[in-house]
Amino acid sequence: MNNVVVKIEKSGNRFNAWDSDGKKWTSEIGTSTRKKAYNAGMALEKREGKGGRTYWWKVPMSEFETTSAPVIDTSGIDIPEDHAEMLNFIHSSYKLKPMGLVMKELKWKYLVRGAVRGKNILMTGPAGCGKTMAAKSVVNALDRPDFYFNLGATQDPRSTLIGNTHFDKKKGTYFSESLFVTAIKTPNAVILLDELSRAHPDAWNILMTVLDAGQRYLRLDEADGCETVPVAEGVTFVATANIGNEYTSTRVMDKALMDRFTIVEMDVLSDEEEYGLLTYMFPHVDPELLKSVSEIANSTRVESRNDSGRVSSGISTRTSVELAGLLYDGFGLDEAAEVTVYPQYSEDGGMESERTYIKQLVQKFISDGTSDDLFNEDEIENANGETS
Ligand SMILES: Nc1ncnc2c1ncn2[C@@H]1O[C@H](COP(=O)(O)OP(=O)(O)OP(=O)(O)O)[C@@H](O)[C@H]1O
Ligand SMILES: [Mg+2]
Repeated sequence: MNNVVVKIEKSGNRFNAWDSDGKKWTSEIGTSTRKKAYNAGMALEKREGKGGRTYWWKVPMSEFETTSAPVIDTSGIDIPEDHAEMLNFIHSSYKLKPMGLVMKELKWKYLVRGAVRGKNILMTGPAGCGKTMAAKSVVNALDRPDFYFNLGATQDPRSTLIGNTHFDKKKGTYFSESLFVTAIKTPNAVILLDELSRAHPDAWNILMTVLDAGQRYLRLDEADGCETVPVAEGVTFVATANIGNEYTSTRVMDKALMDRFTIVEMDVLSDEEEYGLLTYMFPHVDPELLKSVSEIANSTRVESRNDSGRVSSGISTRTSVELAGLLYDGFGLDEAAEVTVYPQYSEDGGMESERTYIKQLVQKFISDGTSDDLFNEDEIENANGETS
C-alpha cells in the first residue's frame, strides 16, 4: 500500500499541498487541515476511512521524503512565456480541473486562458452553482502565489483593502497596510475577490483604479500625501459575482466596474451532470435516490425559468449536495428536503405558495420514486392528500 503523502508550502496567505511528483492536492484537503500540518511541520497522508470516505492524516515529514522521487522545485513560476507553450498549456489544462468540479471543457479553458493572459476575470451565475469552487480551482491549478479575500463578508472595505491608521505613544500615528496591499505588490500573484457583487460600494470605488488596465494602482488615501501603490507585474484578479438573478442581498454592480472584467458565466448543471456529480461524491448512496435529487432540482430550475412558473428560483447545486449528504447520513429524502429545501421557499399564498409546489414535487418522488407524469394533477392532489 503506497498512499499519497503531501507536503504543505505557504504561498501568499494560502497553504498549498504538493506530492513528491509535484502534483498539487490543495483543492482536495481542507484549509485548516493544511494549515495545522504546516504549523506542526508535518506531512499529510491520504487515507480511506469507513464507508470509503477519504481523509488526510498528519504523518512525520520523513514519510514525505521516503515516498519521494526527486522533489521538483515549485518555487518558480510555471506559466509559459512562449506563445506555443502557452497554447499548449491552455489546451491541455482540462486535466488540471479537479474531478469534483463540474465545468465544461470550453469554459474551463476560457477561464485558464484569462488567468494566464492576466485578464481580470469575473465568474457569474446564480447562488450555489460553483463560482467560488471554480475560481479557487483555477487559482490552485496555476503555480503562482495566491491570495483570497471574501469581500461579501467585509464590513470595513477601507481597512481590508487599504489598511489602518494606528496611534502609538512612542511612534505617534502610523499606517499599517492591509494584506491586500501586500498581495498587489507580489509579482504574478493571483488574487481572488470572492463575492464582489455583495461588497460595499466603497470597496468597488477603491477597486476601480486597481482593476483598470490603464491605471493599475491603489490609492492609499488614508496615508500621508495620497500615496499610490502600483499593481505589480503579472498580477491577475479572479472575482465572483451573483449576477442575473433575483437575490436582493446582491447589490447591482456598477457598469463601469463590470466593464473592467472578462466575464465567465458558470452554467447551471443539467440533471445528468448533477446526477454524475452526486454519484461521484456519494458512491455509497442508492443511485435511485440520487437520481430523484437531481430530477427534483432540475424540475425546480425548469419551473423557475418559465414565466408563469410556480417558483421564482431553482434548487441550487449546493443544496442538492447537502441533500445527498443527508441521505448518506441516513436521513430519508422527505426529511432531507424538509430541513434543507423547504425553508428556502415562501409559504405565502397557502396552497398556491412556492413551498406547497415544492412539497408536492418532492412527495411525487417519495410516493413512487419516478418522475413519470410529473405534472399529472390527480397524482399531485393525491400526494398532497397523503401528507395532510
Ligand atoms: N459546478 C459544480 N461542480 C461541483 N460542485 C458544485 C458545483 N456547483 C456547486 N457545487 C457544490 O456546491 C457547493 C457550493 O458551491 P460554490 O460555493 O462554488 O457556489 P457559488 O456559486 O460560489 O455560490 P454563492 O453564489 O452562494 O457564492 C460546492 O461546495 C459544491 O459542493
Ligand atoms: Mg461563492
